[in-house]
Amino acid sequence: MNSLTGKKIILGITGSIAAYKAAFFVRLLIKSGAEVKVLMTQSATTFIAPLTLATLSKNPVITGIADGDEWSNHVELGLWADALVIAPATANTMAKMAGGICDNILNAVYLSARCPVFFAPGMDLDMWVHPSTQENVQKLLGYGNILVEPESGELASGLVGKGRMAEPEHIITALSDFFRKEETTQSLAGKTVLITAGPTYEPIDPVRFIGNHSSGKMGKALAEKVVARGGKVHLVLGPSKLTVDHPDIRVTKVSTALEMLAAAEKYFAQADIAIMAAAVADFRPKNAATEKIKKKAGQEEMTIELVKNPDIAATLGQKKRKNQILVGFALETENPVANASRKLSKKGFDFIVLNSLKDEGAGFNHDTNRVTLVFEGNKTKEFQLKSKLDVADDILDAIEQIL
Ligand code: CTP
Repeated sequence: MNSLTGKKIILGITGSIAAYKAAFFVRLLIKSGAEVKVLMTQSATTFIAPLTLATLSKNPVITGIADGDEWSNHVELGLWADALVIAPATANTMAKMAGGICDNILNAVYLSARCPVFFAPGMDLDMWVHPSTQENVQKLLGYGNILVEPESGELASGLVGKGRMAEPEHIITALSDFFRKEETTQSLAGKTVLITAGPTYEPIDPVRFIGNHSSGKMGKALAEKVVARGGKVHLVLGPSKLTVDHPDIRVTKVSTALEMLAAAEKYFAQADIAIMAAAVADFRPKNAATEKIKKKAGQEEMTIELVKNPDIAATLGQKKRKNQILVGFALETENPVANASRKLSKKGFDFIVLNSLKDEGAGFNHDTNRVTLVFEGNKTKEFQLKSKLDVADDILDAIEQIL
């Protein structure tokens, strides 16, 4: 069974030459087990016959708000659907969607729909790049609609460029991916996840500290994705500007590595999964001064004696029960996989998330990250640069495979 089986899809077809692909698209949807109802604008009916689509979808095609003396209930249609797919979406229809104009059945259903809306633009390349079209695309994305990007190639005008409606197979993939993600949302129900995040600040005196650039964004993204999948989170967060506000994310704010260790040990026993995303300072000043350290006259140098901080991950690794999962992070500049593998066995991790420092947009303080997951026996899984929220999904998918 695939993720489209039993799904109710409304296909809205507008007047672009790509409307001819609708026949293939409806066939693929039906083959995937979806139930399909087709809506067409008047101009779409000049490109493909409603009879073709009625036959393939096994449902009457709706082309107007009123058909003879029968009224098409757009509200009911909007509530019936699990997804509304507008393919092809012309520049004209996108402009109406962006502006809330409702002069045909398709736009009426669009405004009434409570389900996710996908739109697959199909038009000539100059229309696609026009600032008004691009502004409308941004507006539609801002309303939460999902874009299936047009593809590049030969266009009906004879010009070559971007603007061709995505192939029906690609629209099917976008839909299946969406529903698959939806199905997995409660996959961590009943699970408690401990996450350490952010930097630690190790005091030198009351006004100075040793710290690092960690923002805590990766840990926050993980926490948000865990609760989206139905789990509960204990987030032990080092000094960070981030605010976290969710009833299922319990935040314990800490400052030093010792405080982080105490909080992590406290919550580890109740945790099914622990993810060590914090950038813990490996050393702390041996004696933090109680008063601000003053420079002495003529003083040119200063030495701060440091002592090792406890390794939080390794401490939890030693206490780990058989059914607990422990995941670590590593940032390596040399022999990354070999070094990460060593840490894996040393600290008792089930796998390690290897961060890249060399990639633009990855690591500290960015909203994106590029990671490689390193498992026992040097097995690796590489990912592209993506948002930290999407990286969090990849990490949770790997955890769920172990579960
Ligand atoms: N970690 C921890 N406590 C520490 C140091 C690290 O819990 N005192 C955790 C981090 O949260 C991360 C993993 O251990 O999940 C790896 O940290 P890293 O600093 O890369 O490794 P180290 O073991 O400190 O080795 P090195 O500094 O030599 O790279």
